[in-house]
Amino acid sequence: MPDLSYIDVFFSVQAFQEEELRGKSAVIIDVLRASSSIVAAINAGAKKIIPVEDMSDAVKIARTMDQNDYLLCGEKDGTMIEGYDLGNSPLEYTPEVVQNKTLIFNTTNGTKAIKKAALANRIYIGTFLNQQSILNALAEHDDEVVLICSGWRGRLSLEDTMFAGSLLHKLCNGKLPEKTKDGAKVAFGLFEKFGDALEETIGKSDHAYRLRNLVPEEDIPFCCKVDEFDVLPGMKDGIITNLNG
Ligand code: MLT
Repeated sequence: MPDLSYIDVFFSVQAFQEEELRGKSAVIIDVLRASSSIVAAINAGAKKIIPVEDMSDAVKIARTMDQNDYLLCGEKDGTMIEGYDLGNSPLEYTPEVVQNKTLIFNTTNGTKAIKKAALANRIYIGTFLNQQSILNALAEHDDEVVLICSGWRGRLSLEDTMFAGSLLHKLCNGKLPEKTKDGAKVAFGLFEKFGDALEETIGKSDHAYRLRNLVPEEDIPFCCKVDEFDVLPGMKDGIITNLNG
């Protein structure tokens, strides 16, 4: 079980240095929508997911693979990238489409946060959809924990902070000890205030407004479902697989 007084929350990709994660367990959070799509894809039977930082890295990796084995997935500024097979809507990631495929995944903030966490001892991809799996995984080890909110281009995102707060709330049974990091206090406080109205609160976040008219309407309610899937996407050597599998 991690020591709650050491759990830290970083509020964007730019808010931490790679070295700060060495030896720690990191949970990468991008509720809208990269974490949710990764969790849905792993649940739907994707063989592995290779997160990349940008389109040129995606193409380089794709060139080394057989065309029948991979799908190019992701978005830029919320919209599907031209020539890609799939966008970043979790509802696109069905067994019919992704089973046994390798997904090369490229998003504006989420996959950058995952790549930047490479020095962590354990790297999990978490969102409301697989909350319990994340809690179970964290409870197994004494590592210091960092909750990394992907945010949006260096800014805080309400939905990511809400999920960090939700994890903290469950880890301390609703009572945050006095000696905790500022980031943990902020995330916990936000969840305490708005946790009972998750979908309504996230539906009014900056990113929900940004995505309006760009993505299917169902995406936001879907990303607010709690414990929908029992999967634990984790990254080792740059590859995400289901650690619960
Ligand atoms: C990101 O990585 O910034 C997001 O997942 C964007 C999105 O909602 O598609």
